[in-house]
Amino acid sequence: TRPVRLALLGCGTVGTEVVRLLHEQADDLTARIGAPLEIAGIAVRRLGRDRGDLPVDPSLFTTDALGLIKRDDVDLVVEVVGGIESARTWLVEGLRAGKSVVTANKALLAEDGGTLHDAAAEGNADLYYEASVAGAIPLLRPLRESLHGDRVTAVTGIVNGTTNFILSSMATTGAGFNEALEEATELGYAEADPTADVEGFDAAAKAAILASLAFHTRVTAADVFREGMTGVTAGDMASAKEMGCTIKLLCIAQRRDDTVSVRVHPAMIPLSHPLAGVGDAFNAVFVETEAAGPLMFYGRGAGGRPTASAVLGDIVAAARNKLSGTRAPSESNYAKLRVRPIGES
Ligand code: HSE
Repeated sequence: TRPVRLALLGCGTVGTEVVRLLHEQADDLTARIGAPLEIAGIAVRRLGRDRGDLPVDPSLFTTDALGLIKRDDVDLVVEVVGGIESARTWLVEGLRAGKSVVTANKALLAEDGGTLHDAAAEGNADLYYEASVAGAIPLLRPLRESLHGDRVTAVTGIVNGTTNFILSSMATTGAGFNEALEEATELGYAEADPTADVEGFDAAAKAAILASLAFHTRVTAADVFREGMTGVTAGDMASAKEMGCTIKLLCIAQRRDDTVSVRVHPAMIPLSHPLAGVGDAFNAVFVETEAAGPLMFYGRGAGGRPTASAVLGDIVAAARNKLSGTRAPSESNYAKLRVRPIGES
């Protein structure tokens, strides 16, 4: 059988782990797919960075992402760069040309997922993005497939590892926000610029993606009410504790009749709630449905290798579809519920 060939866009924390997993699991992946997976090329911003320990032919690196995507021998495009502008052009180009896309790009999906879904429909290609929300946790596929016989009524989640680490540390040590942020930075959990995490932008993007899938309605990041967690003090945490609660940065997506509301903000939750015990940089998402009742998804929401696990799962699904000539339903935007405007109570 001819190999399924993929263009990898990005070779940072997640990209390098994708390369490693492809190498380590090569035999199993071939057996699962029914054909070998091959890397056709790896697009990076700069050549010449030392990637000597990566199990890959150095001649595969290129700075011409678009040229790589357009190559006839490329079947799948795997994007782990992030950011909106360049990624949108690359993915739309690939999808329209009938190349299936696997992406971890939450910002792009939350801002303009509709454009990607339309391009996928146009090119009859798959669009998979399990890694975009809650890293390793299998969450989007259950929402997209397993729960399709049911009706989701609410999704409540801790979907940002950095802020969960900070709040968990404040809860256990009594530290204030700045001290806990410093610790998170030292341990490598928080990025040098933690704005997107602590101000809730990262969680809001993920909330939009989750709500869209859960309620079969397009929700964008601009529809999500957002309040960050920089204002949570050691005193707030102590008062919460006295009341038998803790404080978490939650994303909350709810359906009431034909209206959907989505928000991200710090919230007090009782210690008896399943989300209260989610510590460290872990993520967890609590899904409530009419028939199944409550469901809880828990695991590592960030990190190169856990995120690469989700990317690989999507690569296998997309490769199989390529070989069998089928296409996964990538969006079911049929419900078209009303999305409650921010500020409306
Ligand atoms: N900054 C994100 C987090 C990374 O802390 O959860 C994963 O999306």
